[in-house]
Amino acid sequence: MIVQALKWVGGIDGFLELIDQRQLPAELVKLQCRDIEQLFDAIETLAVRGAPAIGVSAAYGLVLAMQKLNPADGLEQGLKVLAESVEYLASSRPTAVNLFWALERICQNAKDFATRQPEATVQELRETVLAEANAICQEDVDMCRRIGQNGERFIQEGAGILTHCNAGALATAGQGTALSVMFEAHKNGKKFRVYADETRPLLQGARLTAWELKQAGIDVTVICDNMAGWLMKQGKVDAVITGADRIAANGDTANKIGTYSLSILAREHGIPFYIAAPSSTFDLSIKSGAEIPIEQRSADEVAFLGDRKTAPEGIDIYNPAFDVTEARDIAAIITERGVIENPNTGSISRHLS
Ligand code: MRU
Repeated sequence: MIVQALKWVGGIDGFLELIDQRQLPAELVKLQCRDIEQLFDAIETLAVRGAPAIGVSAAYGLVLAMQKLNPADGLEQGLKVLAESVEYLASSRPTAVNLFWALERICQNAKDFATRQPEATVQELRETVLAEANAICQEDVDMCRRIGQNGERFIQEGAGILTHCNAGALATAGQGTALSVMFEAHKNGKKFRVYADETRPLLQGARLTAWELKQAGIDVTVICDNMAGWLMKQGKVDAVITGADRIAANGDTANKIGTYSLSILAREHGIPFYIAAPSSTFDLSIKSGAEIPIEQRSADEVAFLGDRKTAPEGIDIYNPAFDVTEARDIAAIITERGVIENPNTGSISRHLS
């Protein structure tokens, strides 16, 4: 069984239903987002997380924002509310480019609609925004499946696969990116073992990836992040597969903090390192990873384990949520269109054009 992280319920006056990922694995709780402020909070506090899921949720967030419009309002007012809401949601998390990509796509589509049909009502504009959000959601489902199908050949029978953070169904509208590769290999009858880094500080690997893979009947073992090198040294890891939050034009890839260290360990041990991501995760407007904004999160995420304080009061804490893996350490990027081996500016631009 593959879980569904998010679902729009109803028409333009509907709501977004999310699995509250803050509660997993202890409880499977659904959260109903009925206004944009609630959705902003859900994104900021990681009730919904993972680059593609953030993008799809934000698209639906714009549908929620437009519910406050009056049927008598004109298109101009509708576009104004949309523009303000785009700006607001864009400030929720800075690294995953899917957020900005989805907001921009909805906004552009709405503007095009208003230009084509200047006599349309604001209700029709709202229908257009919902239709585009649904399209983004459905495309994500399709992209996830195709990423899995394109990447499953990298998992050999009997292999050990290491992954970091959660790039599964919980992180997308579909069956995930890195985990989609595993789901497809499993569907094809391959036996393999996944090592899930627990992924400090918020434990997305231990809480979410392990939960998802267990549900799907895939052999999964949780390790602390600092055990990965020793596992590789022992020959237990044949490939590393992770997701991505933003991929620069040259292939440098931002993903959950700790991914960079894994890429160096993988290089040292001669282990291929794969990134699985949809084309909405590429940001061709930036040349390299040096330009990717890295989210800094609250010190309390590091200073506490649950309710328990694990660092001295008043201690300095550094908590970047992401890091950047260099393209030269990535054996291939798996997308819904195929595989980019040894990614670089040329091969990426050809792949996406
Ligand atoms: O802070 P998070 O949990 O949103 O970070 C998520 C990741 O780093 C994922 O690996 C990435 O978004 C890819 S999800 C398919």
